[in-house]
Amino acid sequence: MKTVKQVVLDVTNILNSAGVAEPAANAEFIICTLLDKSRTEILAFGNATFPTEKEEILNSIIKQKIAGKPLEYIFNSADFLGRKFYVDERVLIPRPETEELILKTQKKLKQAPKNILDLCTGSGCIGISLALNYPHAQVTCSDISAPALQVAKQNAKTHKTKINFIESDLFNNINGIFDLIISNPPYIKEDDINTLTLEVKHEPRLAQIGGKKGTEIIEKIIKEAPKFLTPGGLLAMEIGDKEGQKVLQFFSRDIWRDFVIERDFAGLDRFIFARKY
Ligand SMILES: C[S@@+](CC[C@H](N)C(=O)[O-])C[C@H]1O[C@@H](n2cnc3c(N)ncnc32)[C@H](O)[C@@H]1O
Repeated sequence: MKTVKQVVLDVTNILNSAGVAEPAANAEFIICTLLDKSRTEILAFGNATFPTEKEEILNSIIKQKIAGKPLEYIFNSADFLGRKFYVDERVLIPRPETEELILKTQKKLKQAPKNILDLCTGSGCIGISLALNYPHAQVTCSDISAPALQVAKQNAKTHKTKINFIESDLFNNINGIFDLIISNPPYIKEDDINTLTLEVKHEPRLAQIGGKKGTEIIEKIIKEAPKFLTPGGLLAMEIGDKEGQKVLQFFSRDIWRDFVIERDFAGLDRFIFARKY
């Protein structure tokens, strides 16, 4: 029988030999999640015996990790703004930049929004977080992917939020007028898809590819959003880090004001905000 500490070391070595990045951090995360313990508990009780009944599942997790499956898909869970969201291969794994998109958007809102549209919702992480932060707002979440919407609906139920879900190619099936339209649309160039890491390749292509240039979906959103925004309504979007200047040109000056690119934690152009006149 092995101690927890020994198993952490063994897993670290296995991951390391398989060329997995950050093997120690990954090993600790796997053991903590599997045993439902914090890192501090694992360190403090490292001499406890590792439960033998967990060995089989541990071996399966290690195999999946080595094959490049993201841990979020293995454990069906992703952290987003301090909350857990169910995720699997039907949806993109929420990213820290998207947490930033929400925090920056909230700062720009002069008052609590009444009607919010989260376009390209995926797991629903944006719309559901906003529904929890603005409990009086009517929130609509839409996506072209029916499988993604199933995941978003499951997350809305878990977080006890009432959300209007719509299957729609961008604005095609959207009705109504919103004071906030927020989106993290697909924005990777078609040709760049092969340069992505093995882990990112496990995520849905539909969630990643934004067209040949990478900006096609963003351009469509900017062109169509004014019909669905109140005067003074805010459009908030995540964009590819090299596309800021190009995306700015999609805003017509007689329709939009206050358009601005903002950077993420890494200092890269990542967000675009604009208000409708
Ligand atoms: C980058 S993911 C974002 C998911 C989630 N909002 C997040 O931030 O984690 C983009 C999402 O857009 C959806 N999508 C792709 N093309 C679309 C379209 N034409 N209309 C609506 N949704 C689309 C994909 O299915 C995917 O769920």
